Amino acid sequence: MLSEEKIKELVGLAAGARERAYAPYSKYPVGAAVLFASGKIYTGCNIENASYGLSNCAERTAVFKGVSEGEQEIVAVAVAVKGKTAGSPCGACRQVIREFGPKALLISAAENGEYFSKTLEELLPDSFGPEYLRGVEHI
Ligand code: THU
Repeated sequence: MLSEEKIKELVGLAAGARERAYAPYSKYPVGAAVLFASGKIYTGCNIENASYGLSNCAERTAVFKGVSEGEQEIVAVAVAVKGKTAGSPCGACRQVIREFGPKALLISAAENGEYFSKTLEELLPDSFGPEYLRGVEHI
């Protein structure tokens, strides 16, 4: 269980990262903050490209930053967008989060800080993960 205080900290950090988004094409800036089991938090923003398909979501930016610094276990991911309607991680990001956080909590926040949360399991049921490749029994 994550405290409300911790969730609010993550939402605040995600909103800060959103300010660094590079989203000139969609004009939909997104920020993310990922809490890893070490207690460290890594932030990220979406980074678009003139070759649109190469754009990277905020969540994956943050996850890859953490993993490339040695993190391996995601506890929670907060995503912050602009406007009243909180977003939700795209399918690609759900799968990337799943690799390192099958039990992670995903928090989606609107600009005013209001948020809702769901587990990765709720957003990506019956998901594929590394244990399948190892032939280990899964649940
Ligand atoms: N995007 C994210 O960064 N995270 C999400 O959860 C949804 C979508 C980005 C991708 C693209 O740069 C822009 O938002 C519009 O799809």
